[in-house]
Amino acid sequence: MLSREQLDQLLGDMSLEEKIGQMIQLTGYYFTGSGGETGPASEMRIPEDILKSTASVLNVTGAKRLKEVQENYIKENPHRIPLVFMADVIHGFRTVFPIPLAQGCSFDPQLVKECASVAARESAAAGLHVTFSSMADLVRDPRWGRCMESTGEDVYLNGQMARAAVEGYQGESLTDEGTIGACLKHFAGYGAAEGGRDYNTVDMSELSLREQYLPAYREAVKAGTALVMTSFNTVNGIPASANRWLNEEILRKEWGFDGVLISDYSAIYELIFHGVAENEEEAGKLAVEAGVDMDMVSPVYGGTLKKMAEEGRISEELIDRSARRVLELKNRLGLFDSPFRSEKWMEREEEIMHCECHRRTARKMAEESMVLLKNDGILPVRPENLSKKTVALIGPYARSRELGSVWSMFLQEEEVVNLEEGFNNAFTEDSDWMGIRLLVEEGAPILDPGEELTPFKGPILVNDWKEKGIDREEALARAVKAAKEADVVILALGEHKQYSGEGASKASLRLSKGQQHLFEEVNQANPNTVVVLFSGRPLIFPEIKQKAAAVLQAWRPGTEGGDAVARVLTGKVNPSGRLSMSFPKAEGQIPVYYNHLRTGRPAQEGSRERFVSTYRDLDGEPAYPFGYGLSYTEFSYGSVSTNKEEYGLMEEIQACVVVENTGKIPGYEVVQCYVQDMVGSTARPVRELKGFKRIWLEPGEKETVSFTITEEQTRMITGKGTWETEPGTFRIYIGKDSRVTDNFKEVIKR
Ligand code: NOJ
Repeated sequence: MLSREQLDQLLGDMSLEEKIGQMIQLTGYYFTGSGGETGPASEMRIPEDILKSTASVLNVTGAKRLKEVQENYIKENPHRIPLVFMADVIHGFRTVFPIPLAQGCSFDPQLVKECASVAARESAAAGLHVTFSSMADLVRDPRWGRCMESTGEDVYLNGQMARAAVEGYQGESLTDEGTIGACLKHFAGYGAAEGGRDYNTVDMSELSLREQYLPAYREAVKAGTALVMTSFNTVNGIPASANRWLNEEILRKEWGFDGVLISDYSAIYELIFHGVAENEEEAGKLAVEAGVDMDMVSPVYGGTLKKMAEEGRISEELIDRSARRVLELKNRLGLFDSPFRSEKWMEREEEIMHCECHRRTARKMAEESMVLLKNDGILPVRPENLSKKTVALIGPYARSRELGSVWSMFLQEEEVVNLEEGFNNAFTEDSDWMGIRLLVEEGAPILDPGEELTPFKGPILVNDWKEKGIDREEALARAVKAAKEADVVILALGEHKQYSGEGASKASLRLSKGQQHLFEEVNQANPNTVVVLFSGRPLIFPEIKQKAAAVLQAWRPGTEGGDAVARVLTGKVNPSGRLSMSFPKAEGQIPVYYNHLRTGRPAQEGSRERFVSTYRDLDGEPAYPFGYGLSYTEFSYGSVSTNKEEYGLMEEIQACVVVENTGKIPGYEVVQCYVQDMVGSTARPVRELKGFKRIWLEPGEKETVSFTITEEQTRMITGKGTWETEPGTFRIYIGKDSRVTDNFKEVIKR
C-alpha cells in the first residue's frame, strides 16, 4: 500500500490530463476494441491524452482478458497507475442468486452476506475489482421495473440488507484476495420516481427523504462501502449528479463518506437534458462542484475539465480532490501492490466459478426467498396422496432456463436448473417418490401474440411461437389433457425477464392474457392447481388468488431455481420467505405500503364509509402485505412484554414474546417487531419495523424472542426539523407480519 506521503507525491507528479483521466470511466470498447455502446457514449469526444489516462473500465470481465488489458495499460502509463475494473454484479456473478427483492424476503442478512461474498469470490476470479451493488433504494411502486434490484419497501430491512451486502463483498479488508469493492446506489431517492416511470422526477419532503429514504444508504456508508453512485433523478429540482446538498452536505459532511462518488451512466451529460446545464461545460462544472469524482461513460469530464481548469473557471483543487479519492480507492483495493489483485483466484477462475459450494448457497437463498402466498392444504405435495401417481408440470416456466434477470449478465443458461430438472431431481433423490410420473407441457408462451419487448441488448423480441411453428390451440389442449391425467398440477407462470430491471417500468402488472387463459383452463380441468409465479416485481392476479389451490411467489430465483421450487413444493423445505414489498390488489392502489403516515380520516378494514381515506371501488388494503408469508406449520404468539413500563428518553426498550410451533413439522418463523410512536410533533407512520429474527422451532417447541429498540431507532424528524426522540407513548407490536394489530404493549418515554 502507498503511504499518505507517497500518494501526495504521486498526485503532485501527475499532469492535469492524467488527473482528469482518473475521473473517467469508459466501457470496454476503449480498451479492448469490442463492446461498443449506444447513446452519448458512442459520441465520446475525449482528447487522446486524457483517454490514455482513463482510470476505469466498465463491464468487461474474464481473468485472461483483464490481465492483458491491465498489463498493456500500465506499460503505457507514465506513473504506472493501474486501471480499476468495475461491473454490475447485482445478484451473483456466474452462480446467480435470486434477485435482491427476493433476497429481502429471506429476512436473513447473514445469508445475504454469504451470497455477496460468493459473488465477490467469483468476480475477483474473473478479474473484477468493484461491483455496482448494493442498491439501497426504497421502493413503493411495483410499476418501477427496478424494484427487483432493491430489497423492498422497508427502511430498516433495506438498511440491514445493504449493510450485509457491503460486508459480504468487501470482507475484512479490501486488500484480501477474493473480495471486491462495493458501490452503493443510487444516491438518492431513485426508487421514488413519479408514476413508477424509470428516470422520472423525484419530488418529496425532506422529512420523507430523511426518515424513509436515506437511512438504508446511511447503513451501507457506515458499513464502509468503497464507492457511492449518484442517481438519475432530481431531488428537490436538482439532479443528483449536480446536487451539492445531497453529496457534499449529507453524504460527505453529515455521514463522513470519504470514498469515491461516481455518477450513474452518462448522468453528468444528462444534466443538459434535465435543463440545469446549457452545455457540457456547465454540466461538468456542476458535477465537479457537487463532489462527483468520476464520470461514468459520458464525454463531459474528459472533454471539458482541462480547458475550464486552464482558464480558471473551475478550481484545480477540486480536480486534485477527486483524482486523489480515486487513487485512494485503488490503493485501498491493493492495486498498487498487485494490479491484478486476486491473482491466485484468477488462476483458478474456472474451478471457482459456479462450484458446488457456491451453488449450495444459491439454492439456500432461493429456498429462503420464496414466499408461500396461499395454501388451502394441498401443499406440500406428498407422494402418498397421489392416487394416480401423476404430477403435471405446466406453463411457460416449466422448462425455461430464464430464471435469472436482465442483470445476471454472467449467468450461463445451460447451468440453470429448470423446474423440470428440479422435480426430476426431487423424485429420484427420495425413494418415496419412486414410480411417480411427471407430465410436462408448456401450454402457452410467456408473451401474447404481437407483444414486443426491447431487451437490454439485441433486437426487439417478439413471441416466437409462431416462428417456431407451435400451434397455440394444440399446446393448450395438451396442457389441459395433462392436467386431467394428474393428481396435482404445478402451473409455472410469470412475466418475461425483460419486463423488470432498468428501463422496464410497466403500467399493467397482470400476467399475459394467454397465461391467464391457461390458468382458467387448467384450473377448471383440475382444481388441484398450484401456481408458481416468476417475476421481478409484485404482480396482480385476482383470479389466481381466489381460485388456485396454492400460490408460491418464486421471483426470479437464479441458477438453482428449479431445485428450490421442487424442494419447497414437495415439502423437503418448509417455506419461510416473507414479503419485502406489499402486493397491490389493483394498479390504481399504487403506492400501497405498510408504513404510511396516519391520516385524519383512516378507513376501518372492510368499511365502505364515504368520507374516509379509501377508494369508492376498492378498499385500501393490499392483496398481500409487507412481512406476509405462510409456512407448512403454525406458530402461536404470546403477549408482548417489556422489561419496564417507563423509560428515560435516551434509554433502549427491551421487548419480548414467546413463540411456539403449534403445528406438526419443524420450520423457520420470521418474528417481526414494529413500533408506533403514538403522538409526535410531526405525523408518525402507523407502524415501522424495528427488528426481526428468524428462528427455527421443532413441533411443540417454544422460544422467547427478544428485541432491543435503541434510542436511535425511536428518533424522528421533529416539527423543529431536528432528528431526535420525543417523549411520549410508544406501542411495541410483535407478530408474524405488518398487519399485527392486537399484540402490543405500550411504554412511555419521559
Ligand atoms: C445504469 C444503472 O442505473 C446503474 O445501476 C448501473 O450500475 C450502471 N448503468 C452501470 O451499468
